[in-house]
Amino acid sequence: MQDKIKKIVKEIEGYRPANEDDLEQFRIKYLGKKGVVNDLFVEFKNVAPENRKETGMLLNQLKNKAEEKFELYKKELVKNSDFSGENRDLTLSSSELELGSRHPISIVRNEIIQIFSRLGFNISEGPEVEDDWHNFTALNFPEEHPARDMQDTFFVQKNPDIALRTHTSSVQVRVMENTKPPIKTISPGRVFRNEAISARAHCIFHQIEGLYVDKNVSFADLKQTLLYFAKEMFGEKTEIRLRPSFFPFTEPSAEMDISCNICGGKGCNVCKYNGWVEILGCGMVDPNVLENCKIDSKKYTGFAFGMGIERIAMLKYQIKDLRLFFENDVRFLKQFKSAL
Ligand code: PHE
Repeated sequence: MQDKIKKIVKEIEGYRPANEDDLEQFRIKYLGKKGVVNDLFVEFKNVAPENRKETGMLLNQLKNKAEEKFELYKKELVKNSDFSGENRDLTLSSSELELGSRHPISIVRNEIIQIFSRLGFNISEGPEVEDDWHNFTALNFPEEHPARDMQDTFFVQKNPDIALRTHTSSVQVRVMENTKPPIKTISPGRVFRNEAISARAHCIFHQIEGLYVDKNVSFADLKQTLLYFAKEMFGEKTEIRLRPSFFPFTEPSAEMDISCNICGGKGCNVCKYNGWVEILGCGMVDPNVLENCKIDSKKYTGFAFGMGIERIAMLKYQIKDLRLFFENDVRFLKQFKSAL
């Protein structure tokens, strides 16, 4: 009987399962109720007493070997079940990767940047937490002047000199302080105003400011630049209209309307039936502002303009509620696919 056991041990040692079924056959053959091991235990009862000890040991070894083998390959098959060879279809296509989309504010900001960079404007940025000088005083807002109330400001507690910038015109001051003309730059960024949130206003929004300072920069240059922008952004047929306005840092100042891109000027609820929609403020940089930034206002002139990116995006995509830009509902966001 000992020889028989040794032969079976060898058999088991050499065993490798081809697949899961094969391993199950192995289990039934050796470890099943009517399997080889149990049969041997039955046979063991007839072994002569003097051989019992040795045969018993061998028999236990056999049983352990068969069990170890079975456990080992069971684990291995579970681990590799995805790679079990012939059952795998390598021609199967993988599940599609869903790409995210850019936020509409980023898309429109990038488009505006591209339009102005074609005209030679570079990009400048400044801090969102600003001091009074850059946000107001250098821009010709006299202290205590009611013009400061045009922009409801968030001040930093206990320090009336520090506030969240209310417009990106603050970057205009920083650039002029640090660069000699010619200056041709646009500054995109977040701005903050203490306003109640509604479909048309938010306490955080985005602006792009443009600034051009050089010898002989004229209002005609400003108008031509903005006309080019309007046509590039809203289509070749777009017309512009400038209305006199007031900003402390520009003189003269204007607000610009475009012919309504929805109804083409015929009148609809977006343009409130007058055919024009306001999109930006602009003007010639006030000589006081140039002087505040140590630029000789006798030698240089400049124009500036500023627009809200949300407003442009709402017109471009016909979005009626500004709050949608901030809610980040994926159902809203995934409608905007763009290369920009
Ligand atoms: N800073 C102005 C605003 O926030 C916009 C503006 C910029 C107007 C530059 C004129 C020139 O409303």
